[in-house]
Amino acid sequence: MKQLYKISSLLGIFVIIGVIFLAIHSEAQFNITTVEDSAFADRERMKPEVSFYHDEHNEAAGIYDCSVCHHMWDDGERLEGVDSIGMECSACHMAEPDQTEMDLIRAYHLQCRSCHMEEKAGPILCGECHTGRK
Ligand code: HEC
Ligand code: HEC
Ligand code: HEC
Ligand code: HEC
Repeated sequence: MKQLYKISSLLGIFVIIGVIFLAIHSEAQFNITTVEDSAFADRERMKPEVSFYHDEHNEAAGIYDCSVCHHMWDDGERLEGVDSIGMECSACHMAEPDQTEMDLIRAYHLQCRSCHMEEKAGPILCGECHTGRK
């Protein structure tokens, strides 16, 4: 009886370790460390990847409204209180440059750089963002 108890508590410990491992693992999937839009994956990159520690970045920058970046628009107006979390930027911004639309490269640069310029904080030069994976 005592032996059985020992075995089952040992099993219990393994189950707990397993759950903790899974929790850490799934957490890590959301904590992206680079911007690598799938729209750029099929072509030869011109610049190294952009290092972007998503959660740490937003915390350090004090951005709590996700829709500042993951925005939604209607008829030329940015919608308040609605976001596009779960959609890549390329879901709406085209990867091929186009004279009329906000193409993907411009969309990224405008969003990332203009805030850094406005806030006078964060990188502005090519090599400061395109550092490759770190
Ligand atoms: C400073 C801009 C910015 C802010 C603020 C921001 N995100 Fe993101 N987020 C990005 C970028 C850039 C990507 C990666 C590009 C893409 O997926 O198209 C991304 C990707 C994601 C992903 C997909 C991760 C993956 O594994 O593909 C999730 C989920 C996400 N963000 C959630 C959030 C939530 C929730 C908030 C608010 C708490 C938030 N984001 C705030 C820029 C931002
Ligand atoms: C659900 C569709 C959608 C998604 C997803 C989306 N955008 Fe947009 N974005 C738009 C629309 C619509 C406009 C306004 C029309 C235009 O100028 O093309 C816009 C405008 C912009 C602009 C110019 C206006 C401004 O806010 O400065 C930038 C920059 C931009 N998007 C960057 C991004 C980035 C970076 C991401 C990913 C983090 C993203 N967008 C995700 C639809 C989207
Ligand atoms: C709404 C404003 C805002 C937007 C949008 C924004 N940033 Fe930033 N970013 C900041 C601020 C503020 C800092 C400085 C934070 C600090 O004091 O450490 C910063 C710092 C950084 C840094 C240096 C610190 C670090 O986390 O390594 C990098 C790299 C960076 N940003 C990349 C990006 C990229 C890539 C994007 C677009 C996907 C982006 N940022 C969009 C405000 C913004
Ligand atoms: C504030 C950060 C930031 C700065 C500064 C910046 N970029 Fe980017 N750039 C990005 C992000 C984010 C992407 C999207 C990366 C991805 O999804 O792989 C991107 C994508 C690109 C792409 C398309 C992907 C590729 O490698 O072919 C090119 C080309 C590019 N940038 C060139 C430049 C050049 C040239 C400069 C300097 C004039 C520059 N960037 C400055 C953030 C930045």
